[in-house]
Amino acid sequence: MAEETLLEIKNLVTAFQTEAGTIRAVEDVSFSVKKGQTIGLVGESGCGKSVTSLSIMRLLPKPFGRIESGEVLLDNQDLLKLPANEMQHIRGNRISMIFQEPMTALNPVHRIGKQIGEAFMLHQPEMDERTIYKESIEMLRQVGIPAPEQRVQEYPHQLSGGMRQRVMIAIALACKPDILIADEPTTALDVTIQAQILELMKSLQTASGMAIIFITHDLGVIAEVCDEVVVMYAGKIAEKAPVCDLFQSPKHPYTQGLLSAIPKLENPPKQKLQTIEGTVPDLMNLPAGCRFQNRCSYMEAPCQSQSPLLEKVNSTHFVSCHRWKEI
Ligand SMILES: Nc1ncnc2c1ncn2[C@@H]1O[C@H](COP(=O)(O)OP(=O)(O)OP(=O)(O)O)[C@@H](O)[C@H]1O
Ligand SMILES: [Mg+2]
Repeated sequence: MAEETLLEIKNLVTAFQTEAGTIRAVEDVSFSVKKGQTIGLVGESGCGKSVTSLSIMRLLPKPFGRIESGEVLLDNQDLLKLPANEMQHIRGNRISMIFQEPMTALNPVHRIGKQIGEAFMLHQPEMDERTIYKESIEMLRQVGIPAPEQRVQEYPHQLSGGMRQRVMIAIALACKPDILIADEPTTALDVTIQAQILELMKSLQTASGMAIIFITHDLGVIAEVCDEVVVMYAGKIAEKAPVCDLFQSPKHPYTQGLLSAIPKLENPPKQKLQTIEGTVPDLMNLPAGCRFQNRCSYMEAPCQSQSPLLEKVNSTHFVSCHRWKEI
């Protein structure tokens, strides 16, 4: 493990028991996160982004979700092997998460202040009530909530969606985690609020040096905030590269498809946006060979029989496609 690597996910396999049988929502996923770095996890709906992050946090829905194999190393210690109480300490203290549904993640019957305070109390039990109250207001101020002294007394329904999301960020950041996992933190928000939240996360990161795992289906947002990108498709990694490399020379046809689906200013107005035809395959009925084959214009015989391995393009760029050298 390189010196500055903070978190390393190795060959993660996560499965769900469903009525129809077992599905592997995440299969053989590996990537690492360095101190102060932002890693983007990108892919269409159902590709396994949230399941990856819930696996890292060990917050999979019980009893049906289960990590079958792999390692999640934080400073070389495998979180998957920790006793539950030690894992509880890691959550919030070392790794925090902003969940995909901010509306459901806040408790409607408790004041905002109490909910931020709980994060402090849980993870810094030595803090007294007065300090917690003061710190909660300070956190609200840091995430850009106006009149924080007043807001701290309010209930979630009294806040707009954008403000609730800021409160979620405040809670996630309350204990100054080393790693923040942000699962689609801005998708439910309007564009100006999105930009503000992204700006906010970046400035908090500059100030604190925390690493961020940023989950989105929007490659445009990835370009704004990430250093490295992991592209997932149907539970597997399709491509992994530094952000400039990925945008300048995408190797996987799926990545190429995602990139051409980003609206561009230079295109004439009202031009139809490109999309990738077809849909992500059903995890219960995966084809033999490459999972992207039914949507891929480069598909050839080997793609239908052999699963592509994650191959090295260069020391930092990896792709999982039989034909990447020819396309
Ligand atoms: N509780 C569950 N029980 C059974 N299957 C699940 C469960 N949660 C997720 N899955 C399956 O795991 C796969 C990956 O889901 P995941 O939520 O990680 O997708 P995602 O990439 O986060 O998508 P989105 O962009 O929509 O959030 C999906 O096919 C989904 O059906
Ligand atoms: Mg998700």
